[in-house]
Amino acid sequence: MSERIAALAAQLGVSTPQLLAIAAVALPLAAVLLNVAAQVLLPRDPSLPPLVFSYVPVLGSAVTYGMDPYKFFADCRAQHGDLFTFRLLGRNVTVALGAKGSNLIFNGRLNEVSAEEAYTSLTTPVFGKDVVYDVPNAVLMEQKKFVKVGLSTENFRVYVGQITDEVTGFMKGDEGFSAFWRDGKSEAPVDIFKAMCEITILTASRTLQGREVRESLDKSYADLYHDLDGGFTPINFVIPNLPLPANFRRDRAQKLMSDFYRGIIEKRRKEGGDSADHDMIAALMDQSYKNGRKLSDIEIAHIMIALLMAGQHTSSATGSWAMLRLASRPEFIEELYQEQQSVYGDGAGGLRPLDYDTQKSSVPVLDAVVRETLRLHPPIHSIMRKVKSDIVVPAALAAPGADSKKSDSAAYVIPKGHFVMAAPGVSQVDPKIWRDSETFDPNRWLGKGEIEPEEQGETVDYGWGAISSGANSPYLPFGAGR
Ligand code: HEM
Repeated sequence: MSERIAALAAQLGVSTPQLLAIAAVALPLAAVLLNVAAQVLLPRDPSLPPLVFSYVPVLGSAVTYGMDPYKFFADCRAQHGDLFTFRLLGRNVTVALGAKGSNLIFNGRLNEVSAEEAYTSLTTPVFGKDVVYDVPNAVLMEQKKFVKVGLSTENFRVYVGQITDEVTGFMKGDEGFSAFWRDGKSEAPVDIFKAMCEITILTASRTLQGREVRESLDKSYADLYHDLDGGFTPINFVIPNLPLPANFRRDRAQKLMSDFYRGIIEKRRKEGGDSADHDMIAALMDQSYKNGRKLSDIEIAHIMIALLMAGQHTSSATGSWAMLRLASRPEFIEELYQEQQSVYGDGAGGLRPLDYDTQKSSVPVLDAVVRETLRLHPPIHSIMRKVKSDIVVPAALAAPGADSKKSDSAAYVIPKGHFVMAAPGVSQVDPKIWRDSETFDPNRWLGKGEIEPEEQGETVDYGWGAISSGANSPYLPFGAGR
C-alpha cells in the first residue's frame, strides 16, 4: 500500500508526506462538496419531507442541533414548517412539531413506530438487559403495570412524611440551606442544581428506591451513579460500544449497580421482607407476567436502575428551574407561602404536617408553579421513534402554522428506516398559543389566564391502566400515548 502511495506521489511530482497532506485536506473537502452538490442539484422526491441543508456528510446537523435544539427547531420551522427532515450522525430524522406533530408520533401505531428501536442502544447498556427498551413493547407495557403498582396512592401517602423528613434534614445539614444562612448572611450563593440533585436522590431513595438504597448513599454510590450516567452520551445512540474509557466505566458501574440491587432483593427474600416497606422493590417482588412467570431478580434490579435514571435528571432539573424561576418572580414565593399558611396553618401560628390528599387537591398555586416550570423547561427536549413502515402525513400537518390549516390530503411520506422526533417543548412556548409565551407566569394555569384545564376526553388502556387517548395538545411535558 505504502509503495503504491509513494509511486502515485512520484507520478504527481510531490513527496509522499506532501501527497498525504494534500489528501488529508482534499478528501474531506471533496466529501463536503459532493454532499452540498447532492442537496442543491439533485431533485428531491416530492413525497419526502423537506430536508434541512447541512454541509458535513454523516455528521449532518449534529452540531447545530446538539448545541441548541430549540434554536435549531425554530430556525428549521421558520424555513420548512412543522415537518422537516435533518441528518444526524448518518440517520434521517424527521421532526414533527406542533400539537398535531406530537400526536402523530406519540399515537403512532405499533407497526409504524418503535421506541425500543430508537432508544435501546443508548439505554440498554445503562439499565441492563431484559427491561424497558430491551424487550418488545408488549413486555414494557407489562413492566409499566408492575411499576404502577408501586406508584399507588397508599404508597404516596407514606412518602409525603418521608419526603418532609428528608428535605427538613437536608435544610438543617451542613450542605443545606443552613450554609446559606451561616453568619446571619442570607446572600451567600447557593448552587441550586447541586442542592436539587441531592434532595432528589435523598427523597427518591428514601421513598421509591427503598431503605437499603437510602442507607447506602455514600461517595461510592454517587461514583457508580456518575459512571452509569456517563453512558448517556449522544454518540452512544449510534455506536454504543466504542472502546472508550467512559463506556468501560459505564459497563463496570452497570454490573456493580445490578449486583447491589440483586443483593437487596436476595436479602429481602431470605428475611421475608418487611411489611412496612412501601417501596418499588417490594412492589416488584410481588408481581407476575400475564403468563404466570414472576419477575426475575435481574429484571427487578434493572427496572430499579431504569427508574433511578429516569427520575433523577428530570426531577432535579425541574426542581432547579422552579427555584430559579421563583427567584426571578418573588411575588409567587409570597403567594406560595400564603397558600401553605392557609392550607396547613393550625390557627396558632404553626403548620400541621403536609399530607398527600391536601397536596393533591388544595394547593393550586404550587400546582401552577410546577406546570409553568415544565412548560418553559421540559427536561426532555427530543422524543424519538424508529419508523418501521412508511408513515403518510397529511398536508395540513406539514405547512407552516399547520395547526390552523385544515386539509387531510396526503402530502408526505416518512419512509421506513427514518427516525421521527417529537419536541413538545416547541409548542409549549409557541407565541401563537401562549400569551407572553416566554414569560414565567403561573397565573396562566389559575383560571386567570388563557389555558383551560386539560380535557380528559376518551381514554385508552395499553396494558398499564387507562390514560387519555389524545396527544393532540400543545402541552405534553410527560409525553403521551402508550
Ligand atoms: C419532571 C419529571 C419527569 C418528566 C418531565 C418526565 C418526562 C418523560 C417523558 C417526556 C417521557 C417519554 C419518553 C418517550 O416517549 O420517548 C418519559 C418516559 C418515562 N419516564 Fe419520565 N419524566 C419525569 C419523571 C420520571 C420519574 C420520577 C420516573 C420514575 C420514577 C420516570 C419514569 C419514566 C419511564 C419508566 C419512562 C419510559 C416509559 C415508556 O417508554 O413507555 N419519569 N418521561
